[in-house]
Amino acid sequence: MITVWDLPVRLLHWTLVVSVTLCWISTLGWGLSRWHEPAGYVAAAAVIARLLWGFAGSRYARFRQFVAAPRQLLDYVAALRTRREPRYMGHNPLGGWMVLLLLAMTAAVAATGWLFTTDRFWGVNWVAELHNGLAWLLLALIALHIAGVIFTSLRHRENLPGAMLTGRKRAARQGDVD
Ligand code: HEM
Ligand code: HEM
Repeated sequence: MITVWDLPVRLLHWTLVVSVTLCWISTLGWGLSRWHEPAGYVAAAAVIARLLWGFAGSRYARFRQFVAAPRQLLDYVAALRTRREPRYMGHNPLGGWMVLLLLAMTAAVAATGWLFTTDRFWGVNWVAELHNGLAWLLLALIALHIAGVIFTSLRHRENLPGAMLTGRKRAARQGDVD
């Protein structure tokens, strides 16, 4: 086993999971609405920290390591279709782009939520609607993200959520992409 996800990657991931979940749950009532804005700011802070860590973090945390060129992305999708996709030690090409989408969408939801609290945009309907619409898009991306994690875990017989907790994955074998 080797350590793939460093501590900041793991802490920031689970911070995002808890804060975004709390943002959603707090819209359902149950006296939780006062947690909505603080949880949203925590999510925004986690996104900013993760962006910085994408340049300064350890090997598999870096965008340069996992943001695939279009060609690599197409090759990976083609390999998936014939069930010959290799196992990646870091994020696979689809997963890497999903990371960027999730971070960008979380930032956009938090930014529009904050806008709605400013004097300039308070009570402006389209801002609230945009915030709500982007929050639903984020939820759809999260569903795809979790489906991708389950699919990849099954295909390569490894527990990827467990790896995001411990940071550790089985070392690369022949044919794996390191
Ligand atoms: C319980 C739900 C979730 C589970 C089980 C889960 C699991 C995972 C796993 C296993 C990875 C690593 C993927 C890989 O091996 O390439 C990952 C990465 C990631 N997930 Fe999730 N995830 C969940 C929810 C979320 C949510 C709600 C967000 C944020 C909106 C999120 C954002 C991310 C990001 C940004 C990464 C990239 C990690 C990094 O490199 O920093 N995830 N997730
Ligand atoms: C990233 C996490 C966030 C998510 C997933 C999220 C999600 C949502 C959703 C789904 C609603 C609609 C609730 C409803 O119509 O009953 C909502 C409303 C709202 N959110 Fe957020 N939000 C987030 C972050 C924020 C932040 C950072 C702020 C402000 C600092 C904020 C401020 C608001 C406000 C003021 C409303 C009420 C808008 C209205 O009156 O229609 N949200 N949010």
